[in-house]
Amino acid sequence: MIEYENLHRLNKPFREEFLHAFNHMLEEGQFILGNQVTMFEQEFAAYCGARHCVGVGNGLDALTLALRSFSFKEGSEVIVPSNTYIATILAIINSGLKPILVEPDISTYNLDPRLLEKAISPKCVAMVAVHLYGKCCPMDEILGIAGKHRLKVIEDCAHAHGATLHGKAAGTYGDLGAFSFYPTKNLGALGDGGCLLIKDEDLNVRIRSLRNYGSSEKNVHTIAGYNSRLDEIQAGFLRIKLKTLNALNDKRRLLASIYQKNLNPRFIKPSVDEHTADVHYVFNVRHPKRDQLKKHLAAMGIETQVHYPIPPHRQQALKGLFGSATFPISEEIHATTLSLPISPIHSEEEIMRVIEGMNVFN
Ligand SMILES: Cc1ncc(COP(=O)(O)O)c(C=O)c1O
Repeated sequence: MIEYENLHRLNKPFREEFLHAFNHMLEEGQFILGNQVTMFEQEFAAYCGARHCVGVGNGLDALTLALRSFSFKEGSEVIVPSNTYIATILAIINSGLKPILVEPDISTYNLDPRLLEKAISPKCVAMVAVHLYGKCCPMDEILGIAGKHRLKVIEDCAHAHGATLHGKAAGTYGDLGAFSFYPTKNLGALGDGGCLLIKDEDLNVRIRSLRNYGSSEKNVHTIAGYNSRLDEIQAGFLRIKLKTLNALNDKRRLLASIYQKNLNPRFIKPSVDEHTADVHYVFNVRHPKRDQLKKHLAAMGIETQVHYPIPPHRQQALKGLFGSATFPISEEIHATTLSLPISPIHSEEEIMRVIEGMNVFN
């Protein structure tokens, strides 16, 4: 059996260090916004080359606090790709804003800059660029258009810990970079977690306050905030895993290169771009008979996933939000995409077995 992911195996190499850190944290007795969170924030900011990092409860909260931090007028519009995970869209809705779905580029699955200007109305205040599957969006074009229209840019980096474009890290291009540390992510905690990378000093102060009941000073509340703090114990675990993030991403890259080299060209593989260093949170292929292919692999003991089976505009929760607009590119991706095993736990031999299983499918 080749599992899609196995969190027990993924975390086992860190067991001794985790236990040691946990004992230390128990001794320290600081369980909310203590030294571990402070140090993780400094270390992750340094790793990404960012000015500030603020740890929050999860990736959805990171996006929500990012949008809230600008105090946009209620009902303002925010551009977001039509093929993202629903969290990106929920953050917009939960902030009292209106999501404007824009179709992705079918070859990269990321926002298509050629379609952006058409989607910008006078009510538009921001764009969320999602670095889907671990490949950076074309940020130069996106920032150029955003600058022309005075739009804020938030990067959704839930799939892109350590991914770069022109050598610069995901999350450091826009005004804010939002990360999730959900356990399966490239940098995954042992529970929920998230953070924001921030350029502007005032936004840094505001978001630190927003995550902590709108308070910068004990019992003084200047804004109506949230309780969304990165957990101290998760921060301690994340500090340990951050030291190996480059190695974990390199392993994913090695496995991706084996797929790229050996998979039959009948499968549409991820695009390769010399300017981006992708981190392959997902390695997807597209095939018109996706469901049959998934069943064929399952019968051979190979587990796969679909990111994502239902496009956001077809989700019951978002019904009625997008009027009569259609999203054929997003529909096509959701109907044909299949995610193959690509965890650092997988051996090269296992990936070759997946490839053999794939290549005999017809
Ligand atoms: C693209 C994207 N954005 C945001 C999130 C939300 O992250 P979290 O589950 O930590 O809230 C996810 C979660 O998988 C995601 O895939």
